[in-house]
Amino acid sequence: MTTKEDQLKQLRDRMEQDMSLPLRAEATQLVFGEGNPDATIYFLGEAPGQSEDKQGRPFVGRAGKLLNTLLEHIGMQRADVYISNIVRFRPPNNRPPTSAEIAAFLPYVNEEIAIIQPLLIVTLGRFSLAKFLPTDKITQVHGTLHTVNWQGRPIHVFPLYHPAASLRSPEMRSTLEEDFNKIPSVLERLQS
Ligand code: URA
Repeated sequence: MTTKEDQLKQLRDRMEQDMSLPLRAEATQLVFGEGNPDATIYFLGEAPGQSEDKQGRPFVGRAGKLLNTLLEHIGMQRADVYISNIVRFRPPNNRPPTSAEIAAFLPYVNEEIAIIQPLLIVTLGRFSLAKFLPTDKITQVHGTLHTVNWQGRPIHVFPLYHPAASLRSPEMRSTLEEDFNKIPSVLERLQS
């Protein structure tokens, strides 16, 4: 039987070889998701930044350090969860990804979610929110649990502000902390 690790490795290999993917030319390397393939929580960010592009790992720069701290506060480590991004090559100068770029990566994001089958998807920022709740505004839905139809089955989504945005605003940071601290009770609710 193929393990989830094998399936993720195959998915990564396919992405490495997919020359139709945008943003490859200006990026250093592919930044694939990482973490526990059996994770209950799947974090979905936006796109790699400079540190991620250099190291080939998601959320390892300043936003990633904040994510690690937020996880610690709820008694979790990176190794307990799975962390990924919608776009897997760094956009030049960290510009926001375009709709066409996001669309090009989406089939791979869907496959990754199908392999991991997390109980809860935590979206980080408006781009990953838009994948699941395209008409909702992050200012209105952050920190609240949503169940959406995803490929014919219900999936639970908990939208959060992006950690990078909260590094720029103390108010957003305290909102992010407050929302993040709700994750254990959200999980409890879903597991009961
Ligand atoms: N911001 C993201 O959205 N993803 C990363 O991996 C790093 C910063």
